[in-house]
Amino acid sequence: MKTAALWDIRLRTPRLELRLPTDDELDAFYRVAAAGIHPPDEMPFAIAWTDTLNEADFKAFHRGTWERWTPESWTCNFVTFLDGQPIGSQTIEAAEFASKKAVGTGSWLGQAYQRRGYGTEQRAAVLEFAFAGLGAEAAISGALFPNLPSQRISEKLGYRVTGVSEVSPRAEPIQHYDYRLDRADWRCPIDVGIEALEPALPLFGAA
Ligand SMILES: CC(C)(COP(=O)(O)OP(=O)(O)OC[C@H]1O[C@@H](n2cnc3c(N)ncnc32)[C@H](O)[C@@H]1OP(=O)(O)O)[C@@H](O)C(=O)NCCC(=O)NCCS
Repeated sequence: MKTAALWDIRLRTPRLELRLPTDDELDAFYRVAAAGIHPPDEMPFAIAWTDTLNEADFKAFHRGTWERWTPESWTCNFVTFLDGQPIGSQTIEAAEFASKKAVGTGSWLGQAYQRRGYGTEQRAAVLEFAFAGLGAEAAISGALFPNLPSQRISEKLGYRVTGVSEVSPRAEPIQHYDYRLDRADWRCPIDVGIEALEPALPLFGAA
């Protein structure tokens, strides 16, 4: 389907810009991931994709989200740019958004860019995009028990814990907090500019 309008969308925060990358920018984006997202002896993700990271699969994964996009099922992997260079990823995704009005999020930053508040800023940007831009009613997220920064971001932004589940990214079972943020509890802590969304709203099932 025709998805070109997605590439015009910009989310701007005080320090960051979130948007889809061009095909060329996927190279620089991959290099950020390849330089390291977490210490090798830790696994912050429910699926251990960084254990088998390689350029071909990384690019195919991102291109695949564009190729498979439908208003009924979409995954928008915004790339986060700082001073014009990619530093990480902020995903927002939904199934049957038109009726369910719920989104999920996931994110990472290159290790060199962590602990400077960018993780909070990029999540706030995509939540404002969901609630103010798309008209979402709820956002869900999750964090493994050892992942304190991810938990802290969810707590700071107003999510509540709705349960504990179990995942096994590296065979061993690990507990995982499930989070939910309802529209009524959302207070955006920063200025977020959303550009060029209107022509793309039907692609999100949000028109
Ligand atoms: C999770 C992640 C995106 C957070 O981004 P970040 O920019 O490092 O986080 P921030 O700087 O916005 O910090 C968020 C909060 O966590 C706290 N924090 C950050 N690192 C921490 C650590 N190692 N231990 C405890 N608290 C930590 C910060 O102090 C801040 O809380 P505060 O505002 O109360 O001081 C980033 O750490 C990351 O990419 N980690 C690896 C991948 C990952 O875990 N992805 C999420 C999977 S669910």
